[in-house]
Amino acid sequence: MHPLVIQGGMGIGVSGWRLAGAVGRAGGLGVVSGVALDTMLARRLQDGDQDGQLRQALSQFPVQEVATRVLSRYFVSGGRVADQPYRPVARLTLQPSPDRQRLAVLAAFVEVHLARQAAGGAPVGINFMEKVQLAMPAAAYGAMLAGVDVILVGAGIPARLPWLLDTLSRHMRVEFPIDVAGSGQARHTLAFDPVALLGPRVAALSRPLFLAIVSSTTLATFLARDEKTRPDGFVVEGAVAGGHNAPPRGPLQLNERGEPVYGPRDAAGPAQFVALGLPFWLAGGYSQPDRVVAARSAGANGVQVGTPFALSRESGLSPSLRQQLLDHLREGQLDVRTDVRASPTGFPFKVARLGGTLSDPSVYELRRRICDLSYLRTPYMKRDLTIAYRCPAEPVDAYVRKGGPPSETVGRVCLCNALTAAVGLGQQRPDRLTESPILTLGADLDGAHALLRRYPEGWGAGDVIAYLTGS
Ligand SMILES: Cc1cc2nc3c(=O)[nH]c(=O)nc-3n(C[C@H](O)[C@H](O)[C@H](O)COP(=O)(O)O)c2cc1C
Repeated sequence: MHPLVIQGGMGIGVSGWRLAGAVGRAGGLGVVSGVALDTMLARRLQDGDQDGQLRQALSQFPVQEVATRVLSRYFVSGGRVADQPYRPVARLTLQPSPDRQRLAVLAAFVEVHLARQAAGGAPVGINFMEKVQLAMPAAAYGAMLAGVDVILVGAGIPARLPWLLDTLSRHMRVEFPIDVAGSGQARHTLAFDPVALLGPRVAALSRPLFLAIVSSTTLATFLARDEKTRPDGFVVEGAVAGGHNAPPRGPLQLNERGEPVYGPRDAAGPAQFVALGLPFWLAGGYSQPDRVVAARSAGANGVQVGTPFALSRESGLSPSLRQQLLDHLREGQLDVRTDVRASPTGFPFKVARLGGTLSDPSVYELRRRICDLSYLRTPYMKRDLTIAYRCPAEPVDAYVRKGGPPSETVGRVCLCNALTAAVGLGQQRPDRLTESPILTLGADLDGAHALLRRYPEGWGAGDVIAYLTGS
């Protein structure tokens, strides 16, 4: 299964099941984002699941008691009362409760089930961030229960994924290694036991393909060297891509806009990937037909594209924000900046500048820091050898109390809350304040401009595929 166009996974919720389904129907590989699906399922149920799609997918989950429990906890018929905060979902830890793990399995199942249904039989993928390690085993298993075809993992070194997928496809218990800062050589793991959580299953699951998202041949060569770590292929992502980017090599240099400067050493050459002998797709600025042809001529199987799909009708972005982005694009005012401070992960992150979002310093200054979703917080070892969690976007005093350097907190954006807000699921705070969104797009907008000329009223995912493939 080697599509010409992969629609890149876009979290949180930008590439949801509707977008992935539409891409699949048009002949591309549609990929749902696998980040924070549990929170999104819980919130959508509290918003009343207006079209009934979530409840339909829940009714297909193989262990109905689990689906019923989640429904009775979160579903609000007709939707929650305006201004009422969403009920929280327990945060990820190294020792999650069985119910917390079941919710994560169920949420990934629902998203992939709906995407597969919408794709009408075409393959579907799911995207995870390696940095969100604590979520990985349960979400991967849920996606596999729904029959996901491809798992794509970026933002880290996904060396354990082949083993994880092999083991989970046989419903076996895993002890998934987790990085714990300050714990030296000690090994820490997250236990995930499908049978203990959901009961025995008879048939093995089909093992999805695994594509590693990388930015350097060094990482790709390391992963490809051993069959235990070898992926089934690579997505090779350059520095103009939307979302997170790999940092430049060597000492960080900033240009006059405060963006990191990338040099020739940062561009992974297609020739080196050809030499590795595994299929690969090029990503970041490949959203025009001649770029697709160029990628093919360079030996790639095709391209992975994000930005034009994020702006398409089926995108999960809230319609008013998407419209503002299209208006700015039309007026030549859309500015995307690589921010080295925004993401708590420490990776550069692309931010589209739009008034009223956290890219606006006055909006940023107004937000009271709170860390309640916590997907990006990381475990660290305390002096008393117990494990705690911290995030540089949490309240500064809390982070510093946990031994984090104050300088790390400067300019950080709570991406968990802000990206959730960008898809219309922002948390309601006291005094009628709703969390403000942040938007990410790729820096290369040429494909989006060309699509806007063709489709002045906006476009659908199928139009993007037709444009890219010249069909
Ligand atoms: C809105 C948005 C969100 C993204 N989120 C993720 C993500 O969660 N995980 C990921 O691996 N890549 C993410 N990306 C990167 C895309 O999957 C894709 O590789 C990239 O956008 C390709 O570059 P392009 O935007 O120039 O087409 C995101 C991109 C966008 C535009």
